[in-house]
Amino acid sequence: MSKLSWEKPPQRGFSGLTCAIASVFCLATGYYYGRQETSLDGSLAVQTSVVGNLQKCAIDNLLGTGLPFLEKASPISLADFEERRDRLAIALVAEDVDAFVVEPGYTFKYYGNVSQPEWEVWEPEERPFLMIVHPQQDEHGTVTANTTFLCPSFEAERARLLGMPFDGPIQIVPWEEHWDPYATLQQANIFNSQRPPRLMVDEEMRDFIQRGLGTAGFEIVGLKGQVEEVRQIKSASEVEILRAVNTGTVEAVRQIRKCFYPGLTENDIAVALDNALRAAGMEPFFDIVLFDENASNPHGGTNGSKVLEPETFVLIDVGAHLYGYSSDICRTFFPPFLEKPSGDDNLSERMKEKLQVSDHLFQKKKKNILLTQQVWDIVFEAQTQSIHQIRENATAASVDIAAREVITEAGYGETFTHRVGHGIGIKAHESPYLNQGNVKSLLKTGMTFTSEPGVYLVDKFGVRHEDVFLVQGDEEPVLLTGTRAGGPWDP
Ligand SMILES: *[C@@H]1O[C@H](CO)[C@@H](O)[C@H](O)[C@H]1NC(C)=O
Ligand SMILES: *[C@@H]1O[C@H](CO)[C@@H](O)[C@H](O)[C@H]1NC(C)=O
Ligand SMILES: *[C@@H]1O[C@H](CO)[C@@H](O)[C@H](O)[C@H]1NC(C)=O
Ligand SMILES: *[C@@H]1O[C@H](CO)[C@@H](O)[C@H](O)[C@H]1NC(C)=O
Ligand SMILES: *[C@@H]1O[C@H](CO)[C@@H](O)[C@H](O)[C@H]1NC(C)=O
Ligand SMILES: *[C@@H]1O[C@H](CO)[C@@H](O)[C@H](O)[C@H]1NC(C)=O
Repeated sequence: MSKLSWEKPPQRGFSGLTCAIASVFCLATGYYYGRQETSLDGSLAVQTSVVGNLQKCAIDNLLGTGLPFLEKASPISLADFEERRDRLAIALVAEDVDAFVVEPGYTFKYYGNVSQPEWEVWEPEERPFLMIVHPQQDEHGTVTANTTFLCPSFEAERARLLGMPFDGPIQIVPWEEHWDPYATLQQANIFNSQRPPRLMVDEEMRDFIQRGLGTAGFEIVGLKGQVEEVRQIKSASEVEILRAVNTGTVEAVRQIRKCFYPGLTENDIAVALDNALRAAGMEPFFDIVLFDENASNPHGGTNGSKVLEPETFVLIDVGAHLYGYSSDICRTFFPPFLEKPSGDDNLSERMKEKLQVSDHLFQKKKKNILLTQQVWDIVFEAQTQSIHQIRENATAASVDIAAREVITEAGYGETFTHRVGHGIGIKAHESPYLNQGNVKSLLKTGMTFTSEPGVYLVDKFGVRHEDVFLVQGDEEPVLLTGTRAGGPWDP
């Protein structure tokens, strides 16, 4: 689950610049051991405090692993981009549409390597710049993609300078400022179609562009079917990047936990964790650190000032980017300086509550209690059951229902307030979405999902475990987060 950034592409404005300045500062001084915060106006507030020790320890620990998880990942190649456009072309034929149309954003990034801010930094551009992919067939019947760009004339050179992943010069249909861009595209006559050309528009396509195309005589259909599946089904290189960034993000949480000491705030940990991820070459884009009752709100919302104490239940849900792909993982755990009780130890009232151990049960079962009665364990079992459903041809709903049954049987059904997971790729949240109503979407080999059940007890605490999985035929899915959590003392 992630809180920020999925509705709005990451901005490369002030905050990116601030981070860049902060990193240079870090490197120049052998890591600055102070607190770094980006304030609303983008200025960097540096405040020396105990946080510096946390950050240094987290970075040292993480780099000390040698970062083996990053080794197999490499950026998406030109050949990969060509292959995905060709898969799109085949899907377009199957869906009986003449072309696919997309404007800069996540999907354009996927097919043409340009995000919205990479085309227009400040705000979405009102002049349409469209990528149009149409299928063409050679004499052997092989279907490949033929790509054209509808581009403002004065921007054509800038479009070429983007260096988009094409073998050879890009084809541009230019339009002058006083022309109708959509009619210009219509008159360019690039689709060998007997009927009015049928265009499938991406889900991110803005309404005024869709209406403009419709008015110019195109038939418009929405994203669906095999065309939507192209991006949902990951290639081997995408899977390796997802494995690297998700495993690395879990590792960063494990390493920073070892450095915790009482008195840190939620914000302190988020800042240090972000900088540890950056030191390892990943770029954090959201980071939710919540203590105890603040975690009973799945996405937080409190101001980060809660202070770490020995018996604090810590929830961290964090995502970072590597080569344009997202991680999204969550761990819930106790601090390392709280000794793990053995069954015979006396637990404080507060601990019993967190572990949902009633006096009665505690007396009766002693040693087994920690394995069987914790909310932590219930959520883990829910995740286990959902994982068994992450198989080819299972419905998206069945994955959610499997987790929900475990939590409901344990008596916490009402407290599991969100869906169990979502697709993940260049966006942290992608279709298909794993909720109990989604009985129509079938899982396919190559799709990647989070499984992230949770239990949220208002005024007490929240527990969520989130890992990422790759659908692999009828077998158990492949874990892309390294290893799942081992317990509240072993995230
Ligand atoms: C895609 O764009 C990124 C910058 O966003 C660049 O680093 C990378 O080299 C590009 N990939 C290709 C294949 O052109
Ligand atoms: C792509 O399509 C355009 C317009 O139909 C055509 O002029 C061009 O020759 C095609 N490109 C290739 C490489 O076939
Ligand atoms: C954070 O919120 C709490 C109330 O929930 C308030 O007492 C505290 O002053 C706030 N801290 C900051 C830094 O805004
Ligand atoms: C979150 O933590 C702050 C700081 O301890 C506290 O004041 C606040 O009441 C908590 N908020 C919720 C919703 O529990
Ligand atoms: C544990 O609780 C029992 C019964 O309340 C008490 O007699 C004993 O001293 C406690 N042990 C410790 C180590 O506090
Ligand atoms: C999933 O369903 C398709 C279509 O019915 C079938 O071809 C395929 O073998 C099924 N996959 C598995 C793993 O059962």
